[in-house]
Amino acid sequence: MKDKGHVDRRSFLKQTTKAVAAGSVMTASLAGAESPLDRPPPKKKIKVGVIGCGRVAWQYLPELARSPFVELVSTCDIVPQRAKKKASTFKIPNAYSSLDEMLSGAPIDMVVTLTDIQEHYRLNKQALEAGKHVWSEKPFAATYEQGRQLSELADRKGVRLLAAPTVIESKQFAYMARTLASDELGQISNARARYASSGPRWSAFFYQKGGGSLFDIGVYKVAMLIGLLGPVREVTGMTRIVTPERVIERDGTKKTIKVTAEDNTMLVMDHGNGTLSHVQCGFCYSSPAYAASGIPDYTVSVVGNKGNMHLAGYAWGPEGVDVSKPGQGKLTRHCAGAQGYSWRQGASNMAETLVTGREFLVSIEHALHVVEVMAAVKESQRSGRRIKMESTFKWPLLV
Ligand SMILES: NC(=O)c1ccc[n+]([C@@H]2O[C@H](COP(=O)([O-])OP(=O)(O)OC[C@H]3O[C@@H](n4cnc5c(N)ncnc54)[C@H](O)[C@@H]3O)[C@@H](O)[C@H]2O)c1
Repeated sequence: MKDKGHVDRRSFLKQTTKAVAAGSVMTASLAGAESPLDRPPPKKKIKVGVIGCGRVAWQYLPELARSPFVELVSTCDIVPQRAKKKASTFKIPNAYSSLDEMLSGAPIDMVVTLTDIQEHYRLNKQALEAGKHVWSEKPFAATYEQGRQLSELADRKGVRLLAAPTVIESKQFAYMARTLASDELGQISNARARYASSGPRWSAFFYQKGGGSLFDIGVYKVAMLIGLLGPVREVTGMTRIVTPERVIERDGTKKTIKVTAEDNTMLVMDHGNGTLSHVQCGFCYSSPAYAASGIPDYTVSVVGNKGNMHLAGYAWGPEGVDVSKPGQGKLTRHCAGAQGYSWRQGASNMAETLVTGREFLVSIEHALHVVEVMAAVKESQRSGRRIKMESTFKWPLLV
């Protein structure tokens, strides 16, 4: 599997500089500006069952409900009132309290997994084994071995498996990738990304073994940096627990829990050809009040010997890309605003792919590489070693 599909940065620059000049560098998802809602209704709809009806389900369900490619058939949650509440709000006919029940209930084609992180692998596996397509929240598996197993299982069953995050679908990602391809920034030696918050207050799983800040939020930055700079050769990382106890508040009850997953991580990735990048993430500090100060919150920066480029805003909620070059006294803003991208659309886009064959940029190979990098960080912390990667994905993403 090693190096399959990998193009080094130098060859990438040669190939894509020509493509950029010819105006042919476009993402599959960005190529069509037309909204699916403008087209005649599709002949087929994908019957969808959603498992995990907590916070993020409120974000996914409106997109799924308005997609012309989706028929929402079932909801499911081990807390039955959450499944019932979502079902009644979005007029979904069935609500179940386990995946077993959902799979043996009203027929569905696809499962959308929005549960606690620790449950993703087990539930995704069960859904794939039942022959269902799966869209999973991140990470779709906890280890590289688990991820590879699921990907192979999907192939064997003849179904699709895709997973969040979708940050490589944004116009800002495309702009940054195109700028790197054009060689405008010169030789890229390093990039850095960060994502921190004071941590979710609504569920304990974020702080329990198998959870943690890297799997919940650092994941966006790993996905972004490998998308921009290419597959990783080796990884090193350190993780810590800074806040040993947390207070969780939900449905009117408050409890104090012991933290057993990292809430502070730093990792370094080697993309080859001298390019290193790092990600820092944590649940133990929040970003300063950039919005109030008027200073853009640069969460991803790429540094070359002819210029720098900075993503303003979250990778999942990008606000623009600022570019600085020598001799220019100021940063220039490109690609301002959301520009049609929404991180909430991963599952509805997948349904569109299943109906029309239109491919988006997200792939299971990219998601698997993200999982391998994150699992390697944990292994690096445990063993004190650098970890070599086995997986790769077709890169560059935009040619
Ligand atoms: N909340 C957000 O804004 C947000 C944004 C992006 C991604 N995510 C991701 O979405 C996932 C869920 O996060 P959340 O914030 O919605 O958490 P949450 O606790 O609000 O929701 C998770 C739900 O899954 C249910 N659940 C757990 N195990 C289950 C099982 N075996 N079968 C059925 N239901 C089960 C829980 O009862 C709960 O209702 C995580 O992977 C998180 O990283 C969350």
